[in-house]
Amino acid sequence: MRVLVSGGAGYIGSHTVVQLVAAGHDVVIVDSFANAKPTVMNRIEALTGTAVPLHSFDITDRDKTEHLFASEPFDAVIHFAGLKAVGESMDKPLEYYENNLDSTFSLVRAMRRHGVPNLVFSSSATVYGDRSEPPYREDFEPIEATSPYGRTKVFNEHVLRDVAVGSDGFKVAILRYFNPVGAHPSGMIGDDPSGIPNNLMPFIAQVAVGRRDRLTVHGDDYPTADGTCERDYIHVEDLAAGHIAALHWMAAHDRPVSTWNLGTGKGTSVLEMLSAFSRAVGREVPYAVGPRRPGDQPRTWADPALARDELGWTAVKTVDDMCVDTWRWQSANPQGYPDA
Ligand code: NAD
Ligand code: UD1
Repeated sequence: MRVLVSGGAGYIGSHTVVQLVAAGHDVVIVDSFANAKPTVMNRIEALTGTAVPLHSFDITDRDKTEHLFASEPFDAVIHFAGLKAVGESMDKPLEYYENNLDSTFSLVRAMRRHGVPNLVFSSSATVYGDRSEPPYREDFEPIEATSPYGRTKVFNEHVLRDVAVGSDGFKVAILRYFNPVGAHPSGMIGDDPSGIPNNLMPFIAQVAVGRRDRLTVHGDDYPTADGTCERDYIHVEDLAAGHIAALHWMAAHDRPVSTWNLGTGKGTSVLEMLSAFSRAVGREVPYAVGPRRPGDQPRTWADPALARDELGWTAVKTVDDMCVDTWRWQSANPQGYPDA
């Protein structure tokens, strides 16, 4: 298939591009580099042996997006492009709504105009909102979220569902990711957050490599086995494979809308993740226990049965794999991607 990958220079996009090329697909990236460094493209080329074609522009620009679709044929689009920092979305809600919704409007408009039938969209477990008891199933309603970022995912899901149901031949796959972590086993591409990481795994990795003093564990008085929150961490390589499985499924089926959780179905606590990372590094990663972080749920994990049954996809990598691969990436690239 000829696949356009929006946000293909980003964390999850870059891993998916490498797997798409390996699976024999013809891949084109569009990315504004709002949250990526151009040097990722050299790494993708080294890993794939291919100079993956790149269009560097902001897809909220409808004229440029229309021009791209008018110039090249595509069979499918995987739409990763978006802003993703929960805290930042509270400070800059309009920027989040504009970027994360306009990018979808612009892409879908061009896809419809040029008869491109398949769209895979990056959603998030954040659409399950404040539900108390995992596992989370795709048919839980209503979807809702507690941040502007999360609401952009909820709104995107509604928009895509409405468009697919109302139009002949346009299909969407909504993939709800749980907690993506890990890196390519080569250590050449990985997560490179800008500023102070909000998420657990990149924070631990930056402590381990000496960029930060210690991890603050956000609360150890939750009703869980060790008192710290449990999450469904999923290796980015498993996640990337889920996108390819979704693309293949869509090409063979006519259902307009499909929604699949991509998770492992298992919870891992903050302290368990810290121990696994310490094992990967070969020494203790320092930490201190602080207060709870507002908005955190004690326990969240997926019911991944639907993706298993329909796509034949399951996550296979362990928490130890996630830590070993993250550490390989972080220790080889202590400051993330170089500027040039
Ligand atoms: P990322 O920031 O590394 O990648 C997103 C890419 O999109 C970046 O390269 C950025 O430059 C690009 N981009 C942003 N806005 C753009 C625009 N208007 N036009 C063109 N390019 C644009 O993020 P990621 O972690 O790879 O996440 C990919 C997608 O998955 C996002 O939609 C994110 O919300 C979603 N998601 C991520 C997580 C996670 O924990 N990483 C969890 C659930 C869902
Ligand atoms: C967070 C966001 C969620 C978003 C997801 C992926 C919140 C409340 N939730 O999810 O909307 O979809 O990231 O971007 O922001 N932790 C620490 N110390 C740290 C960092 C994290 O103890 O320095 C703990 C957290 O309290 C949590 C766990 O580690 O219990 C995982 O945190 P994180 O990686 O931020 O993921 P989520 O909270 O699941």
